[in-house]
Amino acid sequence: MQRTIVVVGTGGTIAGVAARAEDHVGYEAAALAPEALAAAVPALAALPLRCESLARLDSSDMDHATWCLLRRRLAALLRRPQVRGVVVTHGTDTLEETAYFLHRTLRASKPVVLTAAMRPATALSADGPQNLLDAVTVAGTDGARGVVVAFGGRLWCGADLRKLHGYRLDAFGGGDGGPLGVLEDGRLRLFRAWPKATLHPAAARPWPDAARWPAVDIVTSHAGARGAVVDALVGAGAAGIVIAGTGNGSVHAELLGAARRAEAAGVRVRRASRCPLGGVVGAPPGALPSCGALTPPQARIELLLDLLHERGALRRRRTS
Ligand code: SIN
Repeated sequence: MQRTIVVVGTGGTIAGVAARAEDHVGYEAAALAPEALAAAVPALAALPLRCESLARLDSSDMDHATWCLLRRRLAALLRRPQVRGVVVTHGTDTLEETAYFLHRTLRASKPVVLTAAMRPATALSADGPQNLLDAVTVAGTDGARGVVVAFGGRLWCGADLRKLHGYRLDAFGGGDGGPLGVLEDGRLRLFRAWPKATLHPAAARPWPDAARWPAVDIVTSHAGARGAVVDALVGAGAAGIVIAGTGNGSVHAELLGAARRAEAAGVRVRRASRCPLGGVVGAPPGALPSCGALTPPQARIELLLDLLHERGALRRRRTS
């Protein structure tokens, strides 16, 4: 049996269309279906590929309902013996969030390879076609597994990805972990083992509808920060707040005071670092709980999953 690789489209610049080939900025994202993206790569024509469209989003508008839909669809595809692996085309803006969410919630015993592009499909030298070809190469590699990201000739663990630049073609990094491998002339050179699933306990139970998920927000600490921002979020029903602290996760005294008020009101507050590389090291006595190496968006997802899990456990206790 020849096993299929399924390309699931969610939108993004990789599917973007501009009026002029030299325009890298003023384009419409998510305009093309995944079939059109695959058709632009002649090397894919001979492969057992199937395309389907799950969403057509500019990923800056990504939402929890689409994450749930994507996770469910990927789980169903991975269960099919005839599916060898899945490629997800996505926007770059929240690629790291979707990758982290899937890494923590999807049992990926086969490869789930996310990819994206910094330039629209109509650009003079679009990066999408090569990224898509590389992603399919990874999805068809023997032994491949886990949630990974193929982008710019490098392969990243879904758990490590972070967007570092808003315009350049090499827009991503993997933090201290570095890349998992490189794609060279149609071949993957792997530097270390495929990522092992480290599923969050919340992944084991059904979740409420995304509209009823707890609200978790990110607040950045900076010179002149105002505690009123945190107070307003608490007033608006936030169940969790991640503070993107300065340096090694330090928090402006005004925000810290408001964070303590939030905690007293039952809101879960954690601190991460707004520095693009590294995380928070150590936990001085009395400090807000730290998110360690996680970036603020990753820490937000982790807190969200913690709250979903705790609320699910509470519901189960009440009904038993
Ligand atoms: C998006 O994230 O959907 C738009 C930006 C991009 O893909 O680079």
